[in-house]
Amino acid sequence: MEKQFQTTLDTIYLLKEGEVSAKSPSNIALIKYWGKKKNQIPTNSSISYTLTNSFTETTLKFTPKQEDGFDVKVYLEGEFKESFAPKIITFFERITAYIPFLEQYSFEVHTSNSFPHSSGIASSASGMSAMALCLVEIEKQLGAKLSEDKALEKASFLARLGSGSACRSVYKGLVEWGGNNFIKGSSDLYGTKFPDEEIHDVFKTFHDTILLIHEGEKSVSSTVGHNLMNGHPYAERRFDEANENLQKLIPILKSGDVKAFGELVEHEALTLHAMMMMSNPAFILMKPNTVAALDKLWEFRRETGNQLYFTLDAGANVHLLYPAEDAEAIEIFIENELKQFCQSGKYIKDKVNF
Ligand code: DP6
Repeated sequence: MEKQFQTTLDTIYLLKEGEVSAKSPSNIALIKYWGKKKNQIPTNSSISYTLTNSFTETTLKFTPKQEDGFDVKVYLEGEFKESFAPKIITFFERITAYIPFLEQYSFEVHTSNSFPHSSGIASSASGMSAMALCLVEIEKQLGAKLSEDKALEKASFLARLGSGSACRSVYKGLVEWGGNNFIKGSSDLYGTKFPDEEIHDVFKTFHDTILLIHEGEKSVSSTVGHNLMNGHPYAERRFDEANENLQKLIPILKSGDVKAFGELVEHEALTLHAMMMMSNPAFILMKPNTVAALDKLWEFRRETGNQLYFTLDAGANVHLLYPAEDAEAIEIFIENELKQFCQSGKYIKDKVNF
């Protein structure tokens, strides 16, 4: 039990019905979280860029009820989704020790994503982060005393219990998660904003164009993938390397060395997918067009010297990362040469959020 995040019923007022709203962006990891221990504790530190155009907006309505247990109804883009409730109930079970009023209310969750549901872009990070922000807002409305900083820290803490990477979506910029001895204030329990003044300006101009290589559900969920790191023959080395890579990234971020940044980030992405291929049972989330796009990208970089790099999340889609200074040439290349690898010829233009 993490006592600092507990609120007790005797410190708040109940019986007030109402609604709160929150908007939270998605994030893309540069150093990947892959592997976790009990209670959503990560096996290594990670860091991600918070995005701008890919976000979830959630309104949470609450009305008092008498019966025991949780009562939640979820509406996605206005449509009632019976199948979404169990995920929220699981989340409530994990956080009920920290949010004491969950059994006291019936909840309606009205949520929508800026990106198409079928796009293969995970909504769990932005979705759980938005839910956590809503719950902390209710807690504040019920009279809990939380400073702005503590409210965000608690939202990140709760979001983590919903989905690990969600804890990084609570803040803008670059957000680190995982306790280590080289980033001040870092914690396994919540995300921490990486200081803007430690980041060279070039990295604040980065675009993230997402090639929608494969739309729809992925074959293996992240949660299953994380669990396959238990007993994985390369697990310990991977966890150490992720922490080493994060440590290496810090001076790179400061100096503005885009080449070193891109090479490290690509290595992380390929390592993530290599871990999947070496799991037992093995799985591959890349599609032939993922590999074809990476090949084309490497050829373009070799021939033009443009600073175009990629990362991958736990799926087939490719995140193209590049600084604004090279955006014009790169975006012509994307339209002419990479778009063909997207399932419906679609990609999403996003950028980092500072
Ligand atoms: C590959 O946060 O989706 O995107 O904690 O089980 O919900 P759960 O997993 P999730 O895993 C994200 C994995 C990743 C890497 C990352 O975002 O760091």
